This record gives sequence, C-alpha cells and structure tokens, in this order.
Amino acid sequence: MILTLFGPPGSGKGTQAGTLCRRFHLKHLATGDLLRAEIRARTPLGLEVQAIMARGDLVSDAMVLALVEKRLVNGTTGGTLLDGFPRNLQQLDDFDRSLATRGISMTLAISLRIDDALLIGRLTGRRVCTDCNRSFNVQTHPPEVSGICDDCGGILVQRDDDKEGVIAHRLSEYHAQTRPILGALAERGILVEIDAARPIDEVRNAMFRAVDERRARIGRERA
Ligand code: AP5
Repeated sequence: MILTLFGPPGSGKGTQAGTLCRRFHLKHLATGDLLRAEIRARTPLGLEVQAIMARGDLVSDAMVLALVEKRLVNGTTGGTLLDGFPRNLQQLDDFDRSLATRGISMTLAISLRIDDALLIGRLTGRRVCTDCNRSFNVQTHPPEVSGICDDCGGILVQRDDDKEGVIAHRLSEYHAQTRPILGALAERGILVEIDAARPIDEVRNAMFRAVDERRARIGRERA
C-alpha cells in the first residue's frame, strides 16, 4: 500500500503518522524529517537545503524524488506512508512514473483540511523531539516534563521554520503548489478529505476508517 498524507503545515500529518504506521504496518517516509536529518548531520545535501527550508521554500524536485526513491526501493512488506511528498504537480508526475516502473500506483491519499487561522498557534507552540520526531505543543499538548519527550526522553526543540513570517510563506506555498495535486487525486477516486480541526483522536479514527474502507474496496474489486 502506498498511502499519501496531505495537509497544510500544522494540520497534523506528523502527529498522526506514527499511529497510522503502527496500525497498518507502514514505513513512515516524511521528506521534511529526512531533509532535517541531513541538516543535522551536516551532509552536503543538508548544507544545500538548510537556508531554503529556513525560508519556507520548497527544495528541488529532483533532490526530494531521489530521497524518496532510495527508501521506496528499500521498502517494507506493509507498504509506505508518505508525509510531505508529492508536494507539487511535477513531483506527482515524477512519482507516478517511478511507481509505474515498479508496477504499482498510489493506493490512497488522505487530505487533512483545516483553516489557516488555526495553524499559526499550532505551529508557534510546536516542539519536536530531536531523537524520535514526536510533536508536542506547549499550549495544547505539553510534555509531562518541560522540554523532554514523553516517549524517548529526547530533547524538544522549536523548528527553524516555525516562526510567524515563515509560517505564512509555507502556507502560501501549500495553497499555490500542493493543493492543485488534490484535484488530480480526486479524479482518480483515491482522495479522502478529513476535517483536521477536530481533536487528535477523532482525526486519527477518521483516518483509520478511510484506510479500512479503501482496503475493503480493493478486496471487493479483486474478488
Ligand atoms: P515538512 O516537514 O513536510 O513540514 P510541513 O508540511 O510544513 O508540515 P509540518 O511538519 O509543519 O506540520 P504537520 O502537518 O506534520 O503538523 P504536526 O503533526 O507536527 O516540510 C518542511 C520543509 O521541508 C518544507 O517547507 C520544504 O522546505 C521541505 N520539504 C519537505 N518535503 C518537501 C518536498 N516534497 N518537496 C520540496 N520541499 C520539501 O502538528 C503541528 C502542531 O499541532 C503540533 O504541536 C501538534 O501537537 C498540534 N496538533 C496536531 N494535530 C492536532 C489536533 N487535531 N488538535 C490540536 N493540535 C494538534
């Protein structure tokens, strides 16, 4: 199964990805996390993308596709959950062609829908674990011990791009570049939209239902 997760910055993609992966035995492939790991390791790629990401711009399509393809080849038995990719129509096109060479296609796309106005507070309050990437929010979902991850004891930090001016730019990039993909996926009949303004557990349950229904439909089509 190739499941893709869409939604503006702060809509909850990262928050939901871990439980989805555990439930459906998926490998989590988040392009933003992979790029931030390159920056932390100070690799040539990391040094190249650091300023681009800090501004809230998208990095080059070819770079991101290379990161994704490398991991899809290593794939897992249950499939892959893509978070943050594809991010524009060019990436969608490149990814379709890449999957076609493997004789597969995207199984389901879930779009987390939420008004921009709600996202500023979510993002300025977000703190992320430097070890396991789990997200907290100092206002709405604080860790038990300030600055420390509940799950692994890692240090919580604020991301460079979680500043108000950069957040506004990231949101406009999402609307200009990523939202047009959704129309294309709706035409294929694989898009499910979920109201992401609800509490985390309600959003999670809606996502579980969407995957279960898609799997049941595939089962019926095969029978
Ligand atoms: P990326 O890392 O993909 O960031 P993003 O898409 O901007 O999304 P975020 O990680 O900010 O938000 P999220 O939806 O995961 O929210 P979260 O769950 O943490 O990309 C970063 C950069 O990398 C890009 O700008 C670009 O430069 C580059 N990049 C990445 N992929 C690329 C690509 N394919 N092509 C080119 N460039 C690429 O939640 C946020 C907060 O809200 C948390 O505090 C959380 O606790 C809280 N929260 C979550 N859900 C709820 C809820 N239901 N109710 C209340 N609070 C909630």
